[in-house]
Amino acid sequence: MKQESPSLRHSSKRISSFAKPVVYFLCILFAYSLGYLSSSTRNNSKTPDHINTVVAHVNTVINSVIESGDHNNFGAVCGEAVMSQHIRHKIMERVFKGTSPWENFPPSHVDNLLRKKWVKGWGSNGAVFENLIRRIRPKTIIEVGTFLGASALHMFELTRRLGLDDTQIVCIDDFRGWPGFSDHLHMKDMRMVNGDVMLMYQFMQNVVQANATKSVVYMPFSSGSALEKLCEWGVFGELIEVDAGHDFHSAWSDINRSFKLLKPGSKGGVIFGHDYFTAADNKGVRRAVNLFARVHNLTVQVDGQHWFFYIPNRLSSH
Ligand SMILES: C[S@@+](CC[C@H](N)C(=O)[O-])C[C@H]1O[C@@H](n2cnc3c(N)ncnc32)[C@H](O)[C@@H]1O
Ligand SMILES: *[C@@H]1O[C@H](CO)[C@@H](O)[C@H](O)[C@H]1NC(C)=O
Ligand SMILES: *[C@@H]1O[C@H](CO)[C@@H](O)[C@H](O)[C@H]1NC(C)=O
Ligand SMILES: *[C@@H]1O[C@H](CO)[C@@H](O)[C@H](O)[C@H]1NC(C)=O
Repeated sequence: MKQESPSLRHSSKRISSFAKPVVYFLCILFAYSLGYLSSSTRNNSKTPDHINTVVAHVNTVINSVIESGDHNNFGAVCGEAVMSQHIRHKIMERVFKGTSPWENFPPSHVDNLLRKKWVKGWGSNGAVFENLIRRIRPKTIIEVGTFLGASALHMFELTRRLGLDDTQIVCIDDFRGWPGFSDHLHMKDMRMVNGDVMLMYQFMQNVVQANATKSVVYMPFSSGSALEKLCEWGVFGELIEVDAGHDFHSAWSDINRSFKLLKPGSKGGVIFGHDYFTAADNKGVRRAVNLFARVHNLTVQVDGQHWFFYIPNRLSSH
């Protein structure tokens, strides 16, 4: 992961917040000057010096903004890191007003619609989960794309089996699935109430059945907004699974945002995901993964149908 010095981070933030109004003002001035220069009523074609000075200055500012990537800058600075043992509390506080969402669960209006346990996923029990958890021994796992909790609960069981009793799993999902997902073969009997597929409640129910309510915490929002908030709150993880939208742009943006949240621990850190070698091949996920790896000089590794990037803990090498 690219490490920037704190002063560099702060100065780039300062540029983007202060430069905008100045640039807009100068653009207007620039546009005005152009109109003035090209005006057909003027017969003196020589540009006055003070206009040249303004134009040169505008060009310098615009170039520096373009070079700093301001047009595509959505905040590279995350908050101060929260200690792993406080992450659960932080999320409960910020997302659920300090109460547990499992309190008085299930609510009466969904009670008779839920199955006791209904866990389905895609490649959710692949060997990659055990291989990576053994290798990284993460304190915090962030999962982007949870669905009914199959992979999250598989990781929960693995952490218990490996003696990682304090590991928290942060699940991000808007719990909407995707349009028409219940056409999928093993989703045929998905229930729907007024268009709501109740993924969140069934996921919660599955977590209760696995006795995992103390180890799993979730954020029922879009991946973009949830990852952005985790960055702002300083919630980082050593193992991050990206398995939400599988089109190129979704995969790219989830990977890019997750990369900021990766905090390699003493055993390094990993971002990984499904569908590198499935029917989704090369339509979105694979292209996003390969491109991201190229931009960041990472090596894509493969484990079954999953891809992963391993990032060593550079601090320990000093
Ligand atoms: C393939 S499923 C995840 C499967 C799960 N990892 C497993 O193996 O059991 C993808 C999930 O991503 C969620 N998702 C897709 N796009 C999303 C977005 N933009 N924000 C939040 N969740 C999203 C869907 O609701 C769906 O539950
Ligand atoms: C990737 O994330 C960084 C912040 O870490 C942001 O500045 C950049 O614009 C993002 N790139 C793309 C192409 O989304
Ligand atoms: C959850 O806990 C209950 C009560 O302690 C136990 O009977 C049950 O077997 C546990 N379930 C799992 C999946 O471990
Ligand atoms: C990737 O490596 C190239 C050549 O070694 C280097 O110029 C570039 O700065 C590196 N990029 C990152 C993001 O580390």
